[in-house]
Amino acid sequence: MNYRHAFHAGNFGDVLKHVVLLDLVAALHRKAAPLHLLDSHAGIGLYDLASAEAQRGGEYRLGVGAVLSDPAARRILPDYLAALRALNPELDDTGAGLRRYPGSPWLLQRSLRTEDRLTLCELHPEDVQTLKHNLGRDPRVSIHHRDGFEALRALTPPMPRRGLALIDPAFEDENEFATLTRTVQAMHRRWATGLLAIWYPIKDQRETDRWKRELAAPIAAATIAVELTVRPARESRQMNGSGLIIVNPPWQFDDALRPRLDFLKTRLAREAGAGARIETLVKAA
Ligand SMILES: C[S@@+](CC[C@H](N)C(=O)[O-])C[C@H]1O[C@@H](n2cnc3c(N)ncnc32)[C@H](O)[C@@H]1O
Repeated sequence: MNYRHAFHAGNFGDVLKHVVLLDLVAALHRKAAPLHLLDSHAGIGLYDLASAEAQRGGEYRLGVGAVLSDPAARRILPDYLAALRALNPELDDTGAGLRRYPGSPWLLQRSLRTEDRLTLCELHPEDVQTLKHNLGRDPRVSIHHRDGFEALRALTPPMPRRGLALIDPAFEDENEFATLTRTVQAMHRRWATGLLAIWYPIKDQRETDRWKRELAAPIAAATIAVELTVRPARESRQMNGSGLIIVNPPWQFDDALRPRLDFLKTRLAREAGAGARIETLVKAA
C-alpha cells in the first residue's frame, strides 16, 4: 500500500467529492429517521496543509485553494465553507488562513445526530491509528482496520438501514475498477435502497464511460454520474478529472448540485475544454 492521501488532500478530486457528499448528507437529513453512514476507504480524517506531504505537490492550491479565492464560494457552497471555517477559524474571504483540510470521516462525523451511526474502514496500519486519534472517542463512530471492499459486503445492509456508503478507493492498480464493479453490484443486491456514492478518477473519458456503463448495467435503481474534468480527458497517464456514481440519488438532487458544479468548473479548470456534467446512467423506475 503506497498511496497516502496526505499528498493529495484538498485537490480538485477531493473538492468535488466533499461538496457532493455534503449535499447528499443534507438531503438525507431532511427526514428525522436515523442514518447509518459508511466510509469504506476513510484515510486519516483530517489533513495539515502545512505538512511536508501536502506541501510536496501543493495539489490543494489548485483545488480548495482555487475555490476559496473566489468570495462567491461562501454563497454557492455554504456547507463546504462552514466545514472549512469550523476547522480554520482564521480563514478569510480570499482563502488566506487555510491550514487544515477535512477528510470525509471528519465531514461525516460532524453531520451525525444522536441516533445516527458512522462506520469507517481504513487498511493502512498507520493511517487507521491517525484516523482514530483525529476523530477522538465518539460512541456513534466505529473505526475498523479492515479491507473496505470486504467490509462493504459484510456490513450491508447496515442498521439502521437508511443511509449512505461513500466508496473512495485509492485506485493503486487497474484491477480496482473491476473490484469496485463487483462490490457495488453485490451491495446493491443486498441493500437496494442504499444510497451509494462511488468516487473515481477520470483519465481517458471513453474508458471511464465504458466502465460506468458496465457497473450500472444490472443496477435496478436510479443512478447518476457527476463529473468534473479540469482539461480534456484524452490523456490516459494523468488524472484529468473525477466523478461520483450515485445510486439512489435524493429527489431533485441534480437541481441543487448544478450551480455548484458550474462554479467548481470555473474555479478548477486548468485548460480550455474543462467540463462538468450530470449524466443519467439508470433512469428512475
Ligand atoms: C482516496 S483515500 C480516502 C480519502 C477519504 N475518503 C476522504 O475523502 O477524505 C483512499 C484511502 O483508502 C485506503 N485504502 C487503500 N486500500 C484499501 C482497502 N482495500 N480498504 C480500505 N482502505 C484502503 C488508503 O490507505 C487511503 O487512505
